[in-house]
Amino acid sequence: MNLKPETLRRIDEVIPHYPVKRSAVLPLLHLIQEDVGYIPPEATEWVAQKLELQPINVYEVVTFYPMFRQKPIGRRHIRVCRTLSCALMGGYKACETFEKEFDTHRGEVSPDGEVTIEFVECLASCGTAPVVMIDDALHEKVDPAKAKELSAQIKQQAGQRR
Ligand code: FES
Repeated sequence: MNLKPETLRRIDEVIPHYPVKRSAVLPLLHLIQEDVGYIPPEATEWVAQKLELQPINVYEVVTFYPMFRQKPIGRRHIRVCRTLSCALMGGYKACETFEKEFDTHRGEVSPDGEVTIEFVECLASCGTAPVVMIDDALHEKVDPAKAKELSAQIKQQAGQRR
């Protein structure tokens, strides 16, 4: 399992916080997804070995919780809130705009590998709906015009990397 040294350090730090090792399954999976972007099959084996479990025990957790991804995502991660306030204020329209801009659908990697768009539940900023997270940054009042603007920024940043 190829993890960053920082992730390995945090994993070793988190395990002793639990009275029984197996209780650390969720935090370990979160740390791995934060590092790699998803939970690759070898991570299931690796976590099982680390916590003295059977791989099936870890696999069940990965498949039970929808927040764990089993496929790689694009370089940028666009999460659009679809909970009530955001839905009423145009979250679906914002999402469609991103999909159109990157020629992709929710949950898929765009053809250029640049983005993955997902719907998520409340991002705790309901007063400024509709809300979108791009990687770790929160964007408020994202109407279609702002979604286009944000898409243009992502494309520009991608162009600078190439
Ligand atoms: S409903 Fe979207 S942030 Fe709360």
